[in-house]
Amino acid sequence: MKRKTVFEILDQVDYEFARSGPPADFPDLPRIPAARHFDPDFFALEMEAIRSCWVIVGTVHEWPENGSYKVIDRWGTASVIVVRGDDGELRAFYNTCQHRGAPITREECGRVNKLRCQWHSWQYGLDGTLVNIPGRRDFHDDLDMDSVRLNQVGCQVWRGFVFVNLDPEAPDLVDWLGPVADQAVWFDGLRTAARSEMVLNCNWKICIEANIEVYHVTTVHPTTVARGLDYRGSAHELYETGHSRMVVPRLKYDAESTRKAAEEGDAFDALVNNSNVSFLLFPFHLTPSGADGMTLQTFWPLDVDKTLLEWWTMVPDWGDGDPPAWTQERNDYFDQVMDEDTESNEPVQRSLQAGAFPGILTSYHERRIYHHEAAVDRLIGIDKVPEELRVPQLLDHYIVDRPGYGREPDRLPSDAAEAD
Ligand code: FES
Ligand SMILES: [Fe+2]
Repeated sequence: MKRKTVFEILDQVDYEFARSGPPADFPDLPRIPAARHFDPDFFALEMEAIRSCWVIVGTVHEWPENGSYKVIDRWGTASVIVVRGDDGELRAFYNTCQHRGAPITREECGRVNKLRCQWHSWQYGLDGTLVNIPGRRDFHDDLDMDSVRLNQVGCQVWRGFVFVNLDPEAPDLVDWLGPVADQAVWFDGLRTAARSEMVLNCNWKICIEANIEVYHVTTVHPTTVARGLDYRGSAHELYETGHSRMVVPRLKYDAESTRKAAEEGDAFDALVNNSNVSFLLFPFHLTPSGADGMTLQTFWPLDVDKTLLEWWTMVPDWGDGDPPAWTQERNDYFDQVMDEDTESNEPVQRSLQAGAFPGILTSYHERRIYHHEAAVDRLIGIDKVPEELRVPQLLDHYIVDRPGYGREPDRLPSDAAEAD
Protein backbone atom coordinates (compact mmCIF):
# COMPACT_ATOMS: atom_id res chain seq x y z
CA MET A 1 0.00 0.00 0.00
CA LYS A 2 1.35 3.42 -0.98
CA ARG A 3 2.36 5.83 1.80
CA LYS A 4 -0.09 8.34 0.39
CA THR A 5 -2.95 5.86 0.85
CA VAL A 6 -1.91 5.16 4.44
CA PHE A 7 -1.96 8.88 5.28
CA GLU A 8 -5.36 9.25 3.59
CA ILE A 9 -6.64 6.45 5.81
CA LEU A 10 -5.20 8.07 8.93
CA ASP A 11 -7.03 11.30 7.96
CA GLN A 12 -10.24 9.32 7.51
CA VAL A 13 -9.87 7.71 10.95
CA ASP A 14 -9.34 11.13 12.54
CA TYR A 15 -12.43 12.39 10.74
CA GLU A 16 -14.55 9.47 11.90
CA PHE A 17 -13.55 9.91 15.55
CA ALA A 18 -14.25 13.65 15.40
CA ARG A 19 -17.61 13.74 13.61
CA SER A 20 -20.82 14.16 15.55
CA GLY A 21 -23.19 13.06 12.76
CA PRO A 22 -23.13 11.71 9.21
CA PRO A 23 -21.46 13.94 6.58
CA ALA A 24 -23.74 16.67 5.26
CA ASP A 25 -23.91 15.11 1.79
CA PHE A 26 -24.74 11.60 3.00
CA PRO A 27 -28.20 10.54 1.75
CA ASP A 28 -30.96 9.30 4.00
CA LEU A 29 -30.85 5.78 2.58
CA PRO A 30 -34.14 3.97 1.95
CA ARG A 31 -34.74 0.60 3.55
CA ILE A 32 -33.42 -2.47 1.73
CA PRO A 33 -36.33 -4.76 0.78
CA ALA A 34 -36.29 -7.80 3.07
CA ALA A 35 -37.43 -10.14 0.27
CA ARG A 36 -34.00 -9.80 -1.36
CA HIS A 37 -32.98 -12.32 1.30
CA PHE A 38 -35.67 -14.93 0.74
CA ASP A 39 -37.19 -14.50 -2.74
CA PRO A 40 -36.13 -17.59 -4.77
CA ASP A 41 -36.46 -15.76 -8.12
CA PHE A 42 -34.19 -12.96 -6.95
CA PHE A 43 -31.71 -15.55 -5.68
CA ALA A 44 -31.71 -17.18 -9.13
CA LEU A 45 -30.81 -13.79 -10.66
CA GLU A 46 -27.98 -13.42 -8.15
CA MET A 47 -26.61 -16.88 -8.85
CA GLU A 48 -26.61 -16.27 -12.57
CA ALA A 49 -24.84 -12.95 -12.05
CA ILE A 50 -22.24 -14.39 -9.68
CA ARG A 51 -21.01 -16.58 -12.52
CA SER A 52 -19.50 -13.42 -14.00
CA CYS A 53 -17.55 -12.53 -10.82
CA TRP A 54 -13.93 -13.39 -10.17
CA VAL A 55 -13.88 -15.55 -7.03
CA ILE A 56 -10.96 -16.98 -5.07
CA VAL A 57 -10.59 -20.77 -5.24
CA GLY A 58 -7.25 -21.16 -3.44
CA THR A 59 -3.61 -20.14 -3.51
CA VAL A 60 -0.87 -21.46 -5.79
CA HIS A 61 0.43 -23.67 -2.96
CA GLU A 62 -2.47 -26.03 -3.65
CA TRP A 63 -1.15 -26.74 -7.17
CA PRO A 64 2.49 -27.57 -6.40
CA GLU A 65 3.28 -29.60 -9.56
CA ASN A 66 2.25 -29.89 -13.17
CA GLY A 67 -0.84 -32.11 -13.12
CA SER A 68 -1.99 -30.94 -9.66
CA TYR A 69 -5.72 -30.35 -9.73
CA LYS A 70 -8.54 -29.22 -7.46
CA VAL A 71 -12.29 -29.36 -8.03
CA ILE A 72 -14.46 -26.46 -6.90
CA ASP A 73 -18.10 -27.48 -6.84
CA ARG A 74 -19.80 -24.30 -5.71
CA TRP A 75 -21.68 -22.45 -8.45
CA GLY A 76 -24.99 -24.20 -8.00
CA THR A 77 -24.80 -27.04 -10.50
CA ALA A 78 -21.52 -25.87 -12.05
CA SER A 79 -18.40 -27.67 -10.92
CA VAL A 80 -14.98 -26.50 -12.07
CA ILE A 81 -11.63 -28.28 -12.20
CA VAL A 82 -8.50 -26.14 -11.92
CA VAL A 83 -5.37 -27.92 -13.13
CA ARG A 84 -1.71 -27.00 -13.60
CA GLY A 85 -0.70 -27.84 -17.17
CA ASP A 86 2.49 -29.37 -18.54
CA ASP A 87 3.63 -25.80 -19.22
CA GLY A 88 3.10 -24.81 -15.54
CA GLU A 89 0.04 -22.65 -16.34
CA LEU A 90 -3.13 -22.92 -14.26
CA ARG A 91 -6.29 -23.45 -16.32
CA ALA A 92 -9.90 -23.96 -15.30
CA PHE A 93 -12.53 -26.10 -17.06
CA TYR A 94 -16.06 -27.12 -16.32
CA ASN A 95 -15.72 -30.52 -14.68
CA THR A 96 -17.99 -31.91 -17.38
CA CYS A 97 -16.98 -34.57 -19.86
CA GLN A 98 -17.84 -33.85 -23.50
CA HIS A 99 -19.11 -37.42 -24.04
CA ARG A 100 -22.24 -37.77 -21.93
CA GLY A 101 -21.70 -34.94 -19.50
CA ALA A 102 -20.43 -36.78 -16.45
CA PRO A 103 -18.14 -35.05 -13.98
CA ILE A 104 -14.66 -36.03 -15.13
CA THR A 105 -13.49 -36.61 -11.61
CA ARG A 106 -15.31 -37.09 -8.34
CA GLU A 107 -12.13 -36.54 -6.30
CA GLU A 108 -11.63 -33.16 -4.67
CA CYS A 109 -7.94 -32.85 -5.55
CA GLY A 110 -4.93 -34.86 -6.62
CA ARG A 111 -2.30 -35.17 -9.32
CA VAL A 112 -2.66 -36.71 -12.78
CA ASN A 113 -0.86 -36.89 -16.11
CA LYS A 114 -4.12 -36.82 -18.05
CA LEU A 115 -7.71 -36.03 -17.07
CA ARG A 116 -9.54 -39.33 -17.49
CA CYS A 117 -13.31 -39.34 -17.20
CA GLN A 118 -14.48 -41.70 -14.48
CA TRP A 119 -17.43 -42.98 -16.56
CA HIS A 120 -16.12 -44.29 -19.93
CA SER A 121 -12.48 -43.18 -19.72
CA TRP A 122 -12.35 -40.46 -22.35
CA GLN A 123 -8.99 -38.81 -21.82
CA TYR A 124 -8.10 -35.13 -21.97
CA GLY A 125 -4.72 -33.42 -21.86
CA LEU A 126 -4.06 -30.96 -19.04
CA ASP A 127 -4.80 -28.19 -21.57
CA GLY A 128 -8.32 -29.56 -22.10
CA THR A 129 -7.75 -31.19 -25.50
CA LEU A 130 -9.33 -34.58 -26.12
CA VAL A 131 -6.54 -37.13 -26.58
CA ASN A 132 -8.17 -40.55 -26.46
CA ILE A 133 -11.58 -42.17 -26.92
CA PRO A 134 -11.68 -45.85 -25.94
CA GLY A 135 -13.73 -47.84 -28.49
CA ARG A 136 -13.28 -45.10 -31.07
CA ARG A 137 -14.60 -47.40 -33.88
CA ASP A 138 -18.14 -47.22 -32.45
CA PHE A 139 -18.38 -43.48 -32.93
CA HIS A 140 -19.20 -41.93 -36.28
CA ASP A 141 -16.29 -40.86 -38.47
CA ASP A 142 -17.57 -37.30 -38.30
CA LEU A 143 -16.54 -37.07 -34.68
CA ASP A 144 -13.56 -34.74 -34.96
CA MET A 145 -11.35 -35.15 -31.91
CA ASP A 146 -9.63 -31.81 -32.53
CA SER A 147 -12.86 -29.89 -32.18
CA VAL A 148 -13.92 -31.55 -28.94
CA ARG A 149 -12.29 -30.16 -25.81
CA LEU A 150 -13.13 -29.36 -22.25
CA ASN A 151 -15.08 -26.17 -21.81
CA GLN A 152 -12.56 -23.65 -20.47
CA VAL A 153 -13.40 -20.77 -18.11
CA GLY A 154 -11.39 -17.81 -16.81
CA CYS A 155 -8.53 -18.53 -14.39
CA GLN A 156 -6.03 -15.89 -13.30
CA VAL A 157 -3.50 -15.62 -10.49
CA TRP A 158 -2.96 -12.43 -8.52
CA ARG A 159 -0.41 -12.24 -5.71
CA GLY A 160 -0.55 -16.03 -5.38
CA PHE A 161 -4.36 -16.16 -5.12
CA VAL A 162 -6.11 -18.23 -7.79
CA PHE A 163 -9.33 -16.73 -9.12
CA VAL A 164 -11.95 -18.29 -11.40
CA ASN A 165 -14.65 -16.60 -13.46
CA LEU A 166 -17.25 -18.55 -15.47
CA ASP A 167 -18.03 -15.68 -17.84
CA PRO A 168 -16.24 -15.88 -21.22
CA GLU A 169 -16.57 -12.07 -21.45
CA ALA A 170 -15.02 -11.47 -18.01
CA PRO A 171 -12.88 -8.37 -17.55
CA ASP A 172 -9.21 -8.81 -16.71
CA LEU A 173 -8.82 -9.71 -13.02
CA VAL A 174 -6.73 -6.65 -12.15
CA ASP A 175 -9.35 -4.38 -13.75
CA TRP A 176 -12.02 -6.19 -11.75
CA LEU A 177 -10.09 -5.65 -8.51
CA GLY A 178 -9.72 -1.94 -9.23
CA PRO A 179 -8.11 0.03 -6.35
CA VAL A 180 -7.78 -3.17 -4.30
CA ALA A 181 -5.11 -4.42 -6.71
CA ASP A 182 -2.88 -1.46 -5.87
CA GLN A 183 -3.49 -1.54 -2.16
CA ALA A 184 -3.53 -5.18 -1.00
CA VAL A 185 0.17 -5.81 -1.47
CA TRP A 186 0.42 -7.80 1.76
CA PHE A 187 -1.58 -10.64 0.14
CA ASP A 188 1.64 -11.61 -1.65
CA GLY A 189 2.64 -15.20 -0.97
CA LEU A 190 0.24 -15.80 1.93
CA ARG A 191 -0.39 -19.46 2.58
CA THR A 192 -3.16 -21.27 4.42
CA ALA A 193 -2.13 -22.45 7.89
CA ALA A 194 -5.56 -23.46 9.23
CA ARG A 195 -9.15 -23.57 8.01
CA SER A 196 -12.71 -23.86 9.34
CA GLU A 197 -16.18 -23.97 7.81
CA MET A 198 -19.86 -24.10 8.71
CA VAL A 199 -23.17 -24.18 6.85
CA LEU A 200 -25.91 -21.82 7.99
CA ASN A 201 -29.58 -21.81 7.10
CA CYS A 202 -29.72 -18.23 5.97
CA ASN A 203 -29.12 -16.08 2.93
CA TRP A 204 -25.51 -15.34 1.95
CA LYS A 205 -26.00 -11.57 2.19
CA ILE A 206 -27.19 -11.80 5.79
CA CYS A 207 -23.97 -13.65 6.62
CA ILE A 208 -21.53 -11.39 4.83
CA GLU A 209 -23.27 -8.15 5.73
CA ALA A 210 -23.10 -9.08 9.41
CA ASN A 211 -19.33 -8.88 8.96
CA ILE A 212 -18.89 -5.60 7.09
CA GLU A 213 -19.81 -3.21 9.87
CA VAL A 214 -18.40 -3.02 13.38
CA TYR A 215 -21.41 -1.34 14.98
CA HIS A 216 -22.29 -4.75 16.46
CA VAL A 217 -18.98 -5.51 18.16
CA THR A 218 -19.72 -4.13 21.63
CA THR A 219 -22.98 -6.15 21.78
CA VAL A 220 -21.91 -9.34 20.02
CA HIS A 221 -18.18 -9.54 20.82
CA PRO A 222 -17.78 -7.92 24.27
CA THR A 223 -14.96 -10.24 25.33
CA THR A 224 -13.23 -10.70 21.97
CA VAL A 225 -13.24 -8.13 19.14
CA ALA A 226 -14.51 -5.25 21.30
CA ARG A 227 -11.49 -5.67 23.56
CA GLY A 228 -9.19 -4.94 20.65
CA LEU A 229 -10.92 -2.47 18.31
CA ASP A 230 -12.71 0.87 18.58
CA TYR A 231 -15.57 0.94 16.07
CA ARG A 232 -16.10 4.71 16.39
CA GLY A 233 -12.99 5.44 14.33
CA SER A 234 -13.70 2.94 11.55
CA ALA A 235 -13.04 4.40 8.10
CA HIS A 236 -14.76 2.91 5.04
CA GLU A 237 -14.16 3.37 1.34
CA LEU A 238 -16.41 2.15 -1.50
CA TYR A 239 -15.28 0.95 -4.94
CA GLU A 240 -17.04 0.64 -8.27
CA THR A 241 -17.16 -3.13 -8.73
CA GLY A 242 -18.77 -3.53 -5.30
CA HIS A 243 -15.58 -3.98 -3.31
CA SER A 244 -15.04 -1.87 -0.21
CA ARG A 245 -12.41 -1.28 2.46
CA MET A 246 -12.78 -0.94 6.21
CA VAL A 247 -10.04 0.16 8.59
CA VAL A 248 -10.87 -0.18 12.29
CA PRO A 249 -8.43 1.39 14.76
CA ARG A 250 -7.31 -0.44 17.86
CA LEU A 251 -8.86 0.31 21.21
CA LYS A 252 -7.04 3.27 22.78
CA TYR A 253 -5.84 4.27 19.29
CA ASP A 254 -3.41 7.15 19.50
CA ALA A 255 -3.58 9.22 16.31
CA GLU A 256 -0.43 11.17 17.06
CA SER A 257 1.88 8.22 17.74
CA THR A 258 0.44 6.26 14.78
CA ARG A 259 1.09 9.17 12.45
CA LYS A 260 4.60 9.62 13.85
CA ALA A 261 5.36 5.91 13.32
CA ALA A 262 4.04 6.17 9.76
CA GLU A 263 6.15 9.25 9.04
CA GLU A 264 9.34 7.85 10.49
CA GLY A 265 9.13 4.21 9.39
CA ASP A 266 7.15 1.90 7.14
CA ALA A 267 3.77 3.58 6.82
CA PHE A 268 1.84 0.38 6.15
CA ASP A 269 3.40 -1.34 9.19
CA ALA A 270 2.31 1.61 11.32
CA LEU A 271 -1.22 1.22 9.97
CA VAL A 272 -1.58 -2.54 10.58
CA ASN A 273 0.10 -2.31 13.97
CA ASN A 274 -2.61 0.11 15.02
CA SER A 275 -5.70 -1.09 13.16
CA ASN A 276 -7.42 -3.94 11.36
CA VAL A 277 -7.58 -3.48 7.59
CA SER A 278 -10.18 -5.45 5.66
CA PHE A 279 -11.51 -5.55 2.11
CA LEU A 280 -14.77 -6.92 0.87
CA LEU A 281 -13.80 -8.49 -2.46
CA PHE A 282 -17.13 -8.46 -4.23
CA PRO A 283 -19.25 -10.46 -4.09
CA PHE A 284 -18.41 -12.60 -1.06
CA HIS A 285 -14.85 -12.57 0.26
CA LEU A 286 -13.61 -10.66 3.30
CA THR A 287 -9.96 -10.18 4.21
CA PRO A 288 -9.53 -8.91 7.81
CA SER A 289 -5.79 -8.38 8.18
CA GLY A 290 -3.39 -7.52 10.97
CA ALA A 291 0.35 -7.37 11.43
CA ASP A 292 0.75 -11.19 11.34
CA GLY A 293 -1.31 -12.10 8.27
CA MET A 294 -4.97 -12.28 7.43
CA THR A 295 -8.12 -14.35 7.67
CA LEU A 296 -9.80 -14.95 4.33
CA GLN A 297 -13.53 -15.43 4.77
CA THR A 298 -15.89 -16.59 2.03
CA PHE A 299 -19.67 -16.80 2.04
CA TRP A 300 -20.73 -19.12 -0.77
CA PRO A 301 -24.46 -19.10 -1.54
CA LEU A 302 -25.78 -22.69 -1.62
CA ASP A 303 -29.47 -21.86 -1.73
CA VAL A 304 -31.62 -18.84 -1.07
CA ASP A 305 -31.51 -19.67 2.65
CA LYS A 306 -28.34 -21.75 2.89
CA THR A 307 -24.74 -20.51 2.91
CA LEU A 308 -21.35 -22.14 3.26
CA LEU A 309 -19.01 -20.06 5.41
CA GLU A 310 -15.30 -20.78 5.19
CA TRP A 311 -12.38 -19.03 6.81
CA TRP A 312 -8.66 -19.56 6.32
CA THR A 313 -5.90 -18.32 8.58
CA MET A 314 -3.28 -17.14 6.08
CA VAL A 315 0.28 -16.20 6.96
CA PRO A 316 3.60 -15.77 5.13
CA ASP A 317 4.98 -19.09 3.94
CA TRP A 318 6.67 -20.89 6.87
CA GLY A 319 8.63 -23.32 4.68
CA ASP A 320 8.73 -27.06 5.33
CA GLY A 321 6.79 -28.88 8.05
CA ASP A 322 3.62 -28.02 9.93
CA PRO A 323 2.41 -24.45 10.26
CA PRO A 324 3.58 -22.67 13.43
CA ALA A 325 1.39 -23.48 16.47
CA TRP A 326 0.26 -19.88 16.92
CA THR A 327 -1.59 -20.03 13.61
CA GLN A 328 -3.92 -22.70 15.01
CA GLU A 329 -4.50 -20.54 18.11
CA ARG A 330 -5.32 -17.64 15.84
CA ASN A 331 -7.75 -19.82 13.87
CA ASP A 332 -9.37 -21.02 17.14
CA TYR A 333 -9.83 -17.40 18.18
CA PHE A 334 -11.50 -16.66 14.84
CA ASP A 335 -13.74 -19.74 15.32
CA GLN A 336 -15.00 -18.13 18.51
CA VAL A 337 -15.58 -14.77 16.80
CA MET A 338 -17.47 -16.52 13.99
CA ASP A 339 -19.59 -18.42 16.54
CA GLU A 340 -20.51 -15.08 18.09
CA ASP A 341 -21.25 -13.48 14.71
CA THR A 342 -23.29 -16.32 13.30
CA GLU A 343 -25.44 -16.89 16.39
CA SER A 344 -27.85 -14.23 15.15
CA ASN A 345 -27.75 -15.03 11.40
CA GLU A 346 -30.39 -17.80 11.25
CA PRO A 347 -32.80 -15.98 13.60
CA VAL A 348 -32.42 -12.87 11.40
CA GLN A 349 -33.41 -14.95 8.35
CA ARG A 350 -36.57 -16.20 10.07
CA SER A 351 -37.36 -12.75 11.38
CA LEU A 352 -37.03 -11.13 7.92
CA GLN A 353 -39.41 -13.72 6.48
CA ALA A 354 -42.07 -13.09 9.12
CA GLY A 355 -43.76 -10.49 6.91
CA ALA A 356 -43.86 -7.86 9.64
CA PHE A 357 -40.80 -5.85 8.69
CA PRO A 358 -40.57 -2.83 6.37
CA GLY A 359 -36.97 -3.49 5.27
CA ILE A 360 -33.39 -3.21 6.43
CA LEU A 361 -32.27 0.20 7.64
CA THR A 362 -28.61 1.13 7.17
CA SER A 363 -26.82 4.09 8.76
CA TYR A 364 -23.82 6.04 7.49
CA HIS A 365 -21.58 3.61 9.39
CA GLU A 366 -23.40 0.69 7.73
CA ARG A 367 -23.03 2.09 4.20
CA ARG A 368 -20.90 -0.87 3.04
CA ILE A 369 -24.05 -2.98 3.36
CA TYR A 370 -26.09 -0.63 1.19
CA HIS A 371 -23.19 -0.42 -1.28
CA HIS A 372 -22.98 -4.23 -1.43
CA GLU A 373 -26.70 -4.55 -2.17
CA ALA A 374 -26.61 -1.77 -4.78
CA ALA A 375 -23.62 -3.47 -6.45
CA VAL A 376 -25.57 -6.76 -6.61
CA ASP A 377 -28.26 -4.91 -8.59
CA ARG A 378 -25.66 -3.42 -10.95
CA LEU A 379 -24.18 -6.88 -11.47
CA ILE A 380 -27.58 -8.42 -12.26
CA GLY A 381 -28.53 -5.42 -14.41
CA ILE A 382 -30.81 -2.92 -12.73
CA ASP A 383 -33.60 -3.37 -15.28
CA LYS A 384 -33.74 -7.09 -14.57
CA VAL A 385 -34.33 -6.56 -10.83
CA PRO A 386 -38.06 -6.38 -10.04
CA GLU A 387 -38.88 -2.79 -9.12
CA GLU A 388 -40.13 -3.65 -5.65
CA LEU A 389 -36.79 -5.33 -4.85
CA ARG A 390 -34.46 -2.69 -6.27
CA VAL A 391 -31.95 -0.76 -4.18
CA PRO A 392 -31.70 2.80 -5.55
CA GLN A 393 -28.16 3.72 -6.59
CA LEU A 394 -27.74 6.54 -4.10
CA LEU A 395 -24.10 6.20 -3.09
CA ASP A 396 -22.53 6.99 -6.46
CA HIS A 397 -20.82 10.10 -5.09
CA TYR A 398 -19.15 7.93 -2.43
CA ILE A 399 -17.60 5.51 -4.93
CA VAL A 400 -14.00 6.66 -5.10
CA ASP A 401 -13.03 5.08 -8.43
CA ARG A 402 -16.01 6.47 -10.33
CA PRO A 403 -14.89 8.88 -13.03
CA GLY A 404 -15.48 12.37 -11.73
CA TYR A 405 -15.44 11.43 -8.08
CA GLY A 406 -14.26 14.43 -6.11
CA ARG A 407 -13.15 13.66 -2.61
CA GLU A 408 -14.24 16.38 -0.23
CA PRO A 409 -11.74 16.27 2.64
CA ASP A 410 -13.84 18.69 4.61
CA ARG A 411 -17.13 16.82 4.44
CA LEU A 412 -18.91 18.16 7.44
CA PRO A 413 -21.10 16.30 9.86
CA SER A 414 -24.66 17.43 9.26
CA ASP A 415 -25.03 19.18 12.61
CA ALA A 416 -21.89 21.26 11.93
CA ALA A 417 -23.20 22.09 8.46
CA GLU A 418 -26.42 23.32 9.97
CA ALA A 419 -24.50 25.51 12.38
CA ASP A 420 -22.74 27.31 9.48
S1 FES B 1 -19.26 -39.34 -19.84
FE1 FES B 1 -17.14 -39.14 -19.79
S2 FES B 1 -16.39 -40.79 -20.88
FE2 FES B 1 -18.50 -41.00 -20.94
FE1 LIG C 1 -18.61 -9.59 14.21
